[in-house]
Amino acid sequence: MMMSPLSTRPPSEDGPRAPTEPLLQTVGLTKHFPIGGLLSHHQLHAADGVDLVIRGREIVALVGESGSGKSTLARLLAMIYRPTRGEIRFRGRSLATLRSRRDVLEYRGRVPMVFQDPYSSLNPVFRVSHGIMRAIKLHRPDLSGGGRRAEAERVLRLVGLAPPADFLDKFPHELSGGQRQRIGFAQALASRPLLILADEPVSMLDVSIRIGLLNLMAELREREQLSLLYITHDIASARYVADRLLVMYAGHIVEQGGTEEVLQQPRHPYTQLLLAAAPDPMAEIGVSSWAELGEPPRVVDPGPGCRFRWRCPRAEAVCSSIDPELRSVDGGAGIHLAACHVAARQPPASPLPDARTAGQAPPTAGAAGRG
Ligand SMILES: Nc1ncnc2c1ncn2[C@@H]1O[C@H](COP(=O)(O)OP(=O)(O)O)[C@@H](O)[C@H]1O
Ligand code: SF4
Ligand SMILES: [Mg+2]
Repeated sequence: MMMSPLSTRPPSEDGPRAPTEPLLQTVGLTKHFPIGGLLSHHQLHAADGVDLVIRGREIVALVGESGSGKSTLARLLAMIYRPTRGEIRFRGRSLATLRSRRDVLEYRGRVPMVFQDPYSSLNPVFRVSHGIMRAIKLHRPDLSGGGRRAEAERVLRLVGLAPPADFLDKFPHELSGGQRQRIGFAQALASRPLLILADEPVSMLDVSIRIGLLNLMAELREREQLSLLYITHDIASARYVADRLLVMYAGHIVEQGGTEEVLQQPRHPYTQLLLAAAPDPMAEIGVSSWAELGEPPRVVDPGPGCRFRWRCPRAEAVCSSIDPELRSVDGGAGIHLAACHVAARQPPASPLPDARTAGQAPPTAGAAGRG
C-alpha cells in the first residue's frame, strides 16, 4: 500500500515535551441548546461536562465525527458561546471573571480561532492587509505605523507567504484555498496568541495542500512558542501533528491520551470502531468512513447512561443507567483515560509495534481496533 504523506511526523526540534502548567483548562464545561421553540423543554447537549487541559507549546487534536460537539467546544473556548455550566481557566484565571470588553478582547487575542472555510472566513471586499492590520491595531497598541507594517510582513512570512508585500494588497479571490487559510493563520498570529483554536483548518483543502498546512502548524508551535487545539474528523492528520488526542462523541470526551498510545491501544469501543473503519490510520480517512459507523449520536435529552450504547458492541446493563466517567486506563498513571465501564475493568491489549521505531510497515487499523 502506498504510504500517505501523513505517515511521517513533521520534525520537532526537541522531541517529547515535559509536562508544564496548564495554559488552558476546562472544568465540567457544558453547552446545551434549547430546541423545538419557546414552549419546548428539549435540550440539545452539544458539550457535556468536558474536562480538558492544554499546556504550553502543546498540539492537542480534538477528533470526532460530525455533530460530536467539536466546534461548540471551540466556540466556548473562544468566548463566542457562553457556557451553560462549567468553567474555563486561562493561565489559572476563570474567564467568568473577565468583565470588561478590554479583558475579553485581550483574551481573544491570546486565544484566537481559525475557521474551517477559508472562502467565507475572509471578507471578500477587503484586501488581505485589512484583517491583519486590524488585528495588529487592536492587539499591539505599542506599535506605530511603520512597526505595524513590519509586523504584518513578519506574520505573512511566518505563514510562508513571501514576499509579503505581494500578498498584503491582494483580495481573497486572488488567492488559492491554501493561501487563504494561511492568511487565516496570519491574522491569528497578528494578535500574539498563546493558543490557536484551529477548527478543521485543512478539511476543505486538497490533500496535497493539507500537508503544508499541518507542517505550518508544527512550525508555528516551534517558532512562536504557542499551543494549538487542532480540531479534525481525520485521525490520520491528527496522528501526524498532535502530541495528544482527545476523542469526542456526543458531547463527551470519551478517550484521551498520548497520540501513539491512543492509536496503538485504543480502549474506548468508539475509538476502536473509528480506527477499524479506517483501513489505514496512517492514510487519509475519507469523510465517508464516518458514515459506516452507524446512526448519528443522540444528543437531544440524552438522559443517563453511556451515549454510545446504541452503537456499542460491548454494551452491558450498567451502560444504560450509569454515565461512565473518564478513568485512567494506564494503570493509574492518569495520562491515558477512557470513559467506558468495560475499558476501566479490562487490562490493555499488548501494544502494537510503532512503525517508526520498529522500522516495520504501519499497523493495520483492524488490528488496532481489536485492542
Ligand atoms: N447554535 C446552535 N443551536 C442549536 N444546535 C446547535 C448549535 N450549534 C451546534 N448545534 C448542535 O450541536 C451539536 C454539535 O455540533 P458541533 O459542535 O457543530 O459539532 P461538530 O463540530 O463536531 O460537527 C450538533 O447536533 C449541532 O446540530
Ligand atoms: S460504557 Fe458500555 S456502552 Fe459505553 S462504550 Fe463502554 S461498553 Fe460501550
Ligand atoms: Mg465542526
